Amino acid sequence: MSVVDDVKQRLDIVQLVSEYASLQKSGRNFKALCPFHAEEHASFFVFPERQSWHCFGACGTGGDVFSFIMKKEGFDFGQALRLLAERAGVTLGAPSGAKKGAEAEERGSLFGINEAAAEYYHHLLLNTSTGEMARDYITRRGLSPQTITNFQLGYSPVGWEALRQYLLSKGYEETELLAAGLLVEREGGGSYDRFRNRLMFPIRDIQGNVLGFGARALDESLPKYINSPQTSIFDKSTSLYGIDRAKAPIRQSDLAIITEGYMDVLTAHQHGWENVVASMGTSMTDRQLAVIKKLTRHLILALDADAAGEEAILRSGEMVDSMLSVPLQEYLSTKYDYASMKYDDARNFEVAVLVLPPGKDVDELTRDDVSHWQKLIANAKPMIDFILATAVARVDLESATDKSSAVERLLPLLSQMKDPMRQGHYVQRLAQLLKVDERDVRDALAKFRAVERRRASKSFRTSAPPTAASFSSSPVEEYCLALLLQFPELRPEGMRALPDYFERSQNRELFLKWQQNDDLELLRNSLDDSLHEYLDSLLAKVFPPSLRESEVAHQQTLNDCIMRLQEKWLRSLEAKKEELLATEAETGGVTAELTKLDEQGIEVSKRLREVFIKMGHRRQPAARRSEQ
Ligand code: UTP
Ligand code: MN
Repeated sequence: MSVVDDVKQRLDIVQLVSEYASLQKSGRNFKALCPFHAEEHASFFVFPERQSWHCFGACGTGGDVFSFIMKKEGFDFGQALRLLAERAGVTLGAPSGAKKGAEAEERGSLFGINEAAAEYYHHLLLNTSTGEMARDYITRRGLSPQTITNFQLGYSPVGWEALRQYLLSKGYEETELLAAGLLVEREGGGSYDRFRNRLMFPIRDIQGNVLGFGARALDESLPKYINSPQTSIFDKSTSLYGIDRAKAPIRQSDLAIITEGYMDVLTAHQHGWENVVASMGTSMTDRQLAVIKKLTRHLILALDADAAGEEAILRSGEMVDSMLSVPLQEYLSTKYDYASMKYDDARNFEVAVLVLPPGKDVDELTRDDVSHWQKLIANAKPMIDFILATAVARVDLESATDKSSAVERLLPLLSQMKDPMRQGHYVQRLAQLLKVDERDVRDALAKFRAVERRRASKSFRTSAPPTAASFSSSPVEEYCLALLLQFPELRPEGMRALPDYFERSQNRELFLKWQQNDDLELLRNSLDDSLHEYLDSLLAKVFPPSLRESEVAHQQTLNDCIMRLQEKWLRSLEAKKEELLATEAETGGVTAELTKLDEQGIEVSKRLREVFIKMGHRRQPAARRSEQ
């Protein structure tokens, strides 16, 4: 079995989709408002037995777990495969040597360019008269020469071409400078420096490679900061400013403090708080968290006074998830080992919250009021306590509705706690805070868990292990692809097929890439490594001599294949539709959906008929049903 099939077999589409859409049972299937477009009536369906999804509304398309994640996350096939493989606990083979080499080379060259840029900016700041304004600014902000050196701060000069000229003269290519995000392309052609007249902060990864830059204005002009755009090496949501220098101190102190700003990190480090890193103005992400988790189990989030409450609630889903790492559907996930592993691994991870005094940031505190800062750290509240306190602070204790809605909001959180002691503690705590009877909270929690469990077991039952049929190879799809790959003259004809005709994700991916690349080498390079072997097997497929020798035969065979694919596709659409109509009728389903599906149903039937006519009834449609 290919790795793609293996991943597919281990995952359940119902569970996956339920993380993005709120699925409702509809007969043997599930429906939801389509997660890909805004709509009022549910036209998005998940079919557990087929392990597929389909939107009968605006999208008019469907697929399997891979296409779902690709569409939802904007991933390419390789990214989706990696994400889903990790989830499924399937190890992927290492990427092929050549490609790995090329990627490493590209990353290496971008690091090199960024390093050269950082040195250039740093030199201008330290040694030139152009840098004088910036030097004054830094001095005013109280940064020491040691800090400037340690963090390799710099200055990007006024003018449009300083860095561009400098790096081109060093032999770097304009395309590389664009790829590194240092230049911006001009509309009419050419390019100019992205960063001008700003204080420069090189952003490094944990190994010290320069990923990109933050750039601060030297006055009140806006935007205050400009950052490198997303590049193949820089992604703000996975980077932490200062991590290269904070790594060892975080390990030593067994504590990481997360703040928001570049300046916070600089000042904190200068005053001895070297375990501080910055999330660079955005909410902490799971991937940033993963970097920290390798260094310590203890984390303090320093949050702004005005936004702290909102922030904590907002982040709570993510944070608490990572903290306890038991997704809401924990019952479902007993199917996967990774879930329990993740839980154990994260069990001891403690996130605490420190609320900054109004109008103060870490920069000011660590510089001017260390004792206050120390007190704040000592009093940092565990995330969960903080969330409870914040939620309760908004409740009017005179209002019963307020109280019960607060409890309701917190139930998912409480129910995630696996450790009964811990859960008991927080149930008690919440009851105290709300001044309600502890038993009432416990009852509400029990009810909530029962509902969750029922939902879970229901979807478990219906999404029984997918049948072998849904994974076995699809000879027509593969035959068609082999033809297209081996006989280039079939391209115009092949372009008539729709990606949707290919049900197996690796086939659909191959077809898409074939459409985009009319050269075999280009096609291979654009494919994820995991599909190379599969591509080779299709290229090696041997056709009978009668077919090999005649171009006319190629054409005819391909036509036949495409038509059979189309028929297969329309049939499965038809079957889905029939099933849905039956359920909807049984349950007195929503008329709007019925009409919508019906309209499309007529459409499908009409097109099926056309296909049959075209095929000249070479085969009896009814007889082919058994082949499905
Ligand atoms: P702050 O506005 O708190 O900036 O934004 P700061 O770091 O404290 O800077 P000073 O003290 O005013 O000089 C916090 C972080 O949010 C990101 C930056 O990473 C900044 O450090 N940010 C802020 C941006 O990316 N762009 C902006 O325009 C503003
Ligand atoms: Mn600041």
